[in-house]
Amino acid sequence: MLRNTKTGYGRVAILFHWSMALLVLGMLAGGLYMTRLPITDPFTFQVYQLHKSIGFVILTMVVLRLGWRLANPAPQLPGGMKPWERWAAHLGHTGLYAVMILMPLSGWLMVSASPWNIPTVVFNVLNVPHLPVPAFLGSKEEAEGLFKSAHFYLGWLAIALVVTHVGAALKHHFIERDSTLRRMLSTQPARDNA
Ligand code: HEM
Ligand code: HEM
Repeated sequence: MLRNTKTGYGRVAILFHWSMALLVLGMLAGGLYMTRLPITDPFTFQVYQLHKSIGFVILTMVVLRLGWRLANPAPQLPGGMKPWERWAAHLGHTGLYAVMILMPLSGWLMVSASPWNIPTVVFNVLNVPHLPVPAFLGSKEEAEGLFKSAHFYLGWLAIALVVTHVGAALKHHFIERDSTLRRMLSTQPARDNA
């Protein structure tokens, strides 16, 4: 079953979810790790290039994923959830989509503004042009600093959202004992009452 139904996620949404969850978690940990490496070490340069390449993979995937989601709405939330819980679930998912878009965009703007002018070549194959950086943001250093801060704070926002998200998924599974986690692990709930 490829598409979502009212009761569960289809194969495509599940594949997008877990592949992107792995990539985003790896990028959050990898990003925090690489900024602590000695800047003049050639290994650090390689890690930064890998970070940028995976960031573009995430940006491409989130565009495709949102397209799929628009054409194929998410299943209904389980019954019995309080109005504030429904609101929090929607807000949390919207926030996760927002950081999956804004993290790569702020990174892209950061390297575009950088006075170092280091090219971005995704996996040493695809050259990605720098984005135009608006002049009203000041000098290159100022603009780079602004996007660096945005990237940093968005990273911590993403970590906070993911921790809450995983906590909510575990609460649904072990305390409410509903199908929320199961339907992100298997397409079986999508078949039930479909
Ligand atoms: C979903 C995608 C991404 C995630 C989750 C992510 C996450 C992070 C995190 C957590 C940091 C460490 C922040 C710090 O300690 O200052 C970081 C740093 C960095 N990221 Fe990303 N990033 C993503 C995409 C990108 C992209 C697409 C680019 C560039 C094209 C990029 C360029 C950088 C650079 C240059 C740094 C180092 C900043 C510094 O030196 O302080 N990132 N990233
Ligand atoms: C191991 C960690 C994770 C677990 C256990 C988990 C679990 C889940 C579950 C059970 C759902 C379905 C919620 C529902 O049925 O309404 C879901 C949806 C979602 N998750 Fe995760 N997740 C994890 C990591 C992540 C990460 C790292 C991200 C992205 C940064 C993420 C982004 C999303 C999004 C955007 C949705 C909404 C999907 C949609 O309806 O379009 N998840 N997650």
